Parts: sequence; C-alpha cells; structure tokens
Amino acid sequence: MDDLRDKYLGAIASAADEAGLEEVRLAALGKKGEIALRMRELGTMPPEQRMAVAPALNGLRDEVASAIAARKAALQDAALDERLRAEWLDVTLPARPRRAGTIHPISQVTEEVTQIFAALGYAVAEGPQVEDDWHNFDALNIAPEHPARQEHDTFYMARAEGDNRPPHVLRTHTSPVQIRAMQAQGAPIRVIAPGRVFRADYDQTHSPMFHQVEGLAIDRDITMANLKWTLEEFIKAFFEVDRVDLRFRASHFPFTEPSAEVDVRCSWQNGTLKLGEGDSWLEILGSGMVHPKVLQAGGIDPTEWQGFAFGMGIDRIAMLKYGIPDLRAFFESDLRWLRHYGFGALDVPTLAGGL
Ligand code: PHE
Repeated sequence: MDDLRDKYLGAIASAADEAGLEEVRLAALGKKGEIALRMRELGTMPPEQRMAVAPALNGLRDEVASAIAARKAALQDAALDERLRAEWLDVTLPARPRRAGTIHPISQVTEEVTQIFAALGYAVAEGPQVEDDWHNFDALNIAPEHPARQEHDTFYMARAEGDNRPPHVLRTHTSPVQIRAMQAQGAPIRVIAPGRVFRADYDQTHSPMFHQVEGLAIDRDITMANLKWTLEEFIKAFFEVDRVDLRFRASHFPFTEPSAEVDVRCSWQNGTLKLGEGDSWLEILGSGMVHPKVLQAGGIDPTEWQGFAFGMGIDRIAMLKYGIPDLRAFFESDLRWLRHYGFGALDVPTLAGGL
C-alpha cells in the first residue's frame, strides 16, 4: 500500500502537463488501473482480510484522486499564467501611428471670413441647402420666365407624381438666406451667410457644389459707398495686404439695383495663381443695392430701409489666397492634397492673432 502511494503521488507531482497527468490517472484509477484492479480483488478475499484491506485501499484511492485534482488545478493555473504572459498586450500604446488630421482650406477660409465680418458687426445667418423655389427665385425678383433661372443651371428635386407645385431646388446661391434673415429679424440687419451652393457646371474653376458667403446690411441710410468701403476693408484684411487691385464692374442681378461685380487682379503662371500682379482678373463676387421688391418680399418697408448685399465665392478667394490652381481638387479628398493644403486644428484664425 505504501509503495503504491509513493509511486503514484510521485508520478502526480512530476507530471509536466495535463496529458501526462491523465496518463497517471489512467494507470492508477482507470478501469484497468493498478488501484482499481486491487479493489476488484477485494471481492475474492475472505471477509476478515477484506475488512482490514478495504478501508486502507479506499483511503489510498481518495488520496490519489484528490492529489490528481490538485495537480490538475495547479497545471491549469500555470498554463493560464503562461498564456497571459505570452499574449500580453500594452493597451496604452496607440493603435496606429499618430497622425494629425487637417482642417480643409474651405473651413479655414470660412472661419477667416467670419472673423473679419464679426469685427465689422456682422452675425452669421443660415438657411437650408434644399430650398424652395420661392426663396431661391421669386422672392429675389427672379420671375418664372426670367432667363436667370436657366443661367443658374439649377438642380431640381423630384416631386411625387401628381404634385404640381414647383419643385424644391438645391439652392443655386446663398441669396435666399437674405430673405430668411429679413423675415426672421426685420430691419436693421447686418449678417453674413456662408454655405454650400449647387449648379450643374464643371471645369477648372467650376464645381457642381461650391461655397458662397452672402453679405447683407440694411439700415436707413446705407449706400453704395458703404458697400465699396466694406468690400475693400474685407479684401485687405483677408489677404493681409495694404492694397489690392479690385475692379468694380457695372453688372446686373435681378435682386440688386444698381449692381456691380468685383474682380481681383491676379496672374496664372506655370499653374500657380498669384494675387495682385499680372493681367488676369478673377471674378470673386457679385453685389449691389438690395432691390425694393426684395425688401418687400422679406417683409421690410423699402420706403424706410435700404441696404447692400453681396455674394462671394469662398472657394475662389481660398484659391487666390493660398495659390491653389484647380478648384476641383478641393472636393477630391486626396490625402496628399489635404496634407499639403490643410491647416492645423489649433491654427484658429483671429484678427488679433493673425489670419
Ligand atoms: N447671388 C449672386 C450669385 O450667386 C451673387 C450676388 C449676391 C449678387 C448678392 C448681388 C447681391 O451670382
């Protein structure tokens, strides 16, 4: 009995893994195991002998079984420890190389424009990109048969069959926000409205989605002179120069009278766009005195109030300021372009800190 105990407890203690331990268990307690066979022999013994041997044999069987269970638990703990050590992972490490995203030039320029006009007392107004026909056209004195409707290359939204109302449009300019601002706050007004606009047009300087910023100033005595001063101040602040060459060209818009388009002198050389030199002019905005009918549509009395409005291409002035030759690249999401022309997230433009 003592020999058996020593043999199996020794084998259990030195089993290197669970498979080795299982072999020991089968050799001792399995159907044909050594201890199991001894227990079977009990049946052939005379009663006195059996009474003496059985308790000791049962004790041995239990002792070996619990030694196996203890060893098994110890081996499993060791295996888990080993696995945890092998699969150790530092979850505080970054998952990928750290790479800062960039602020898109359109976002940056929109923020710059907003800062400059905020210093001149302008609030920011907003309107929907899917606009109704009335705000985009009629209220701006563009009648249904007016050629400007065709000139705008409008994207129309679908209407349900049998619905004969004029379809909504993707707004072709930010001017409908003029009407919404007038309706919402009445006169006097000083707002800008930056945002997306849409026209079916595509080449190096046109994209079907682009950005404008509308400006609207209404008071009792605002004149064309105020418009000119405001635009010159803006352009100087935006391009951070003492003077720029601006060209005010007499023009026509249904919603302003008189109207002027403004161009900036620039040059295109080897695909690079430069400001303030050369013989090219890039049109950057349309402007004029708000038409009396437009004031009326906005619920403002044109015999009491007057003002100016302008609509400027944000993408255009971004191209000029940062020397970006192709408008289409703005919207291609090419990572190389974005890293080159993008701005740091903390590079927040302020008038005091510099644009
Ligand atoms: N809405 C005009 C355009 O998109 C620009 C404009 C705005 C002109 C305001 C005059 C006044 O071309």
